[in-house]
Amino acid sequence: MKGIICYYSGSGNTKLAIEYLSKKITNTDFELHNIVKNEVPDFTNYDVAGFATFTDFGGPAQLMYSFFDKIKMQKDKPAFVFNTFGFISVRTLKELGNLATSKGFNVISGFSLHTPENYPPMRKRNKAYDDAPKPKELREFDNYIKFLNTQLEDIKSSNITRSEKIKSGILGAIFPKFPRTQAKKDFGIQNVDEGLCIECGMCKKVCPYEAVELNPKPNFDHKLCHGCWACYNHCPTKSIYTPKFNGIHHYPKPNTEMTRKLGY
Ligand SMILES: Cc1cc2nc3c(=O)[nH]c(=O)nc-3n(C[C@H](O)[C@H](O)[C@H](O)COP(=O)(O)O)c2cc1C
Repeated sequence: MKGIICYYSGSGNTKLAIEYLSKKITNTDFELHNIVKNEVPDFTNYDVAGFATFTDFGGPAQLMYSFFDKIKMQKDKPAFVFNTFGFISVRTLKELGNLATSKGFNVISGFSLHTPENYPPMRKRNKAYDDAPKPKELREFDNYIKFLNTQLEDIKSSNITRSEKIKSGILGAIFPKFPRTQAKKDFGIQNVDEGLCIECGMCKKVCPYEAVELNPKPNFDHKLCHGCWACYNHCPTKSIYTPKFNGIHHYPKPNTEMTRKLGY
């Protein structure tokens, strides 16, 4: 079978996890589709879809909402949902499932994987979780992949798609989604140290919200910025700074520990 996983990954944790997943699935060839700056794919070309992103203030990352807005109504196309999170996933998986269901996908299952934090304010509070996923968490992920494989096998052999109710877990049910207005407050207004900036354009390349213009140094449109820290995390010379963060607690890519665990 042919599948597509539409993903948004700020620092690469989610991307690494779905690469791992797609290599372990034996009955479906998955194409990985980065939703940043790319068009919505034509789902009729695929037997199954996946939607993957990271937890952003207790829900799916902001970009996923505008991506789903652009998707045409489907007729029961099987889909699974997946997210990574650093501390607590809250309602991410459930909302991702709801987004997919609202577009006519038949959501068959979902999984949330604990990974290191890429949110600098949490890393500053010594909540980096650089040892995630722990062995038990990785085993649970492996078990989920096996389960997904059997679900896909069922689809392949009989076209019967059993859907699973996506739950948010006890903590997800108790905790409300964090107010996202806090994101901009935590971030403040970013700026660039012109002495350090090498005009490489990385900040513009990684910004999912078109909030960076190069002139040739970056100018930031603070109205378009969602405070996702992508420009801050990825700047190779750490020249982008905010009122509270300058040259500290970056997480530009999966750490070596996580990269080793997920098979690279
Ligand atoms: C803006 C922002 C908000 C975040 N909010 C949460 C959160 O509410 N709960 C949580 O557990 N992790 C949160 N995180 C951490 C990420 O979900 C986590 O580190 C994830 O693995 C990053 O995935 P990525 O490398 O694919 O971007 C947040 C990260 C960012 C950048």
